[in-house]
Amino acid sequence: MKIAMLGLGNMNGAILAGMLAAGSDPAGLCATVHSEDSARAGEERYGVAVHSTERDPEANRNAASGADVVVLGVKPRYILTLCREISAALAPETVVVSVAAGITTGAMERNLPEGQPVVRTMPNTPLTVGMGAVGLAGGRAVTEEQLALAEGLFAGSGSVHRVAEEQIDAVAAVSGSGPAYAFLLAELMAAGGVELGLDESLARDLARSTVAGAGRMLADPGVDPAALRRAVTSPNGTTEAAVNSFLEAGLAGLIADGMRASAARGRQISEESGA
Ligand SMILES: NC(=O)c1ccc[n+]([C@@H]2O[C@H](COP(=O)([O-])OP(=O)(O)OC[C@H]3O[C@@H](n4cnc5c(N)ncnc54)[C@H](OP(=O)(O)O)[C@@H]3O)[C@@H](O)[C@H]2O)c1
Repeated sequence: MKIAMLGLGNMNGAILAGMLAAGSDPAGLCATVHSEDSARAGEERYGVAVHSTERDPEANRNAASGADVVVLGVKPRYILTLCREISAALAPETVVVSVAAGITTGAMERNLPEGQPVVRTMPNTPLTVGMGAVGLAGGRAVTEEQLALAEGLFAGSGSVHRVAEEQIDAVAAVSGSGPAYAFLLAELMAAGGVELGLDESLARDLARSTVAGAGRMLADPGVDPAALRRAVTSPNGTTEAAVNSFLEAGLAGLIADGMRASAARGRQISEESGA
């Protein structure tokens, strides 16, 4: 099995780290990036061959040639150009997987050879620590076996869910963008601790360990977050005072608004890319 990761930034890097941690053979993996500095850093960090398009304009085509799976991990605005760039190098059965927000399977299919199997995914960066969440939808030409091949990229590093393509923007709003919401919570809790008189490094460490620890408690798929919250919220206690204050100030509506903004931005990226 040969897998080519085109782009090796936050997202493709997280997928690659997850695959390596789950036991993939580095010899079957290669990657491309733009700059020579990123190529050197990527080789050092992941121990796989990383080629720079700045040094070798053929790097993407060479990586795609002979690959069973090509994972497109560049910014959404470059995805369709990259599809056209690698088209001539692809074998008809090579599965082209995209992680990009907003870029539809239809748009990719129009920029790839007729009948190329395409899979659109919405992963997230906790794949790096084996706790990712991925939504995935196949294009017109993809077979069941090829979809399973794409799912296999995330095996051992997260939960994978097949969804209708129309739901991918909603998946992005929950889990694709979601890690940033949890990081923001940790930032705001640290700032709140400082305002209450804690020293900055103590407040940051308390907030970081709390969000990380609570995340670990949620890791079991059978766990209900509301039940966990109730278990630590004594009637008339300090936690209840905080939770009631959040809810009365409209936190639920704010979160829903932010998630609507994420999904709307996904649709806007689709329109901008002509999808
Ligand atoms: N970040 C997330 O949490 C997240 C979540 C879900 C989906 N996504 C999707 O993941 C995709 C990548 O986002 P990201 O956050 O990983 O971006 P990023 O960190 O900026 O990484 C982009 C990567 O693409 C490389 N690159 C640029 N031009 C290239 C070219 N012509 N050929 C090959 N590689 C090239 C860059 O190399 P250099 O370093 O040399 O510039 C870099 O390795 C986006 O489409 C995004 O929608 C991201």
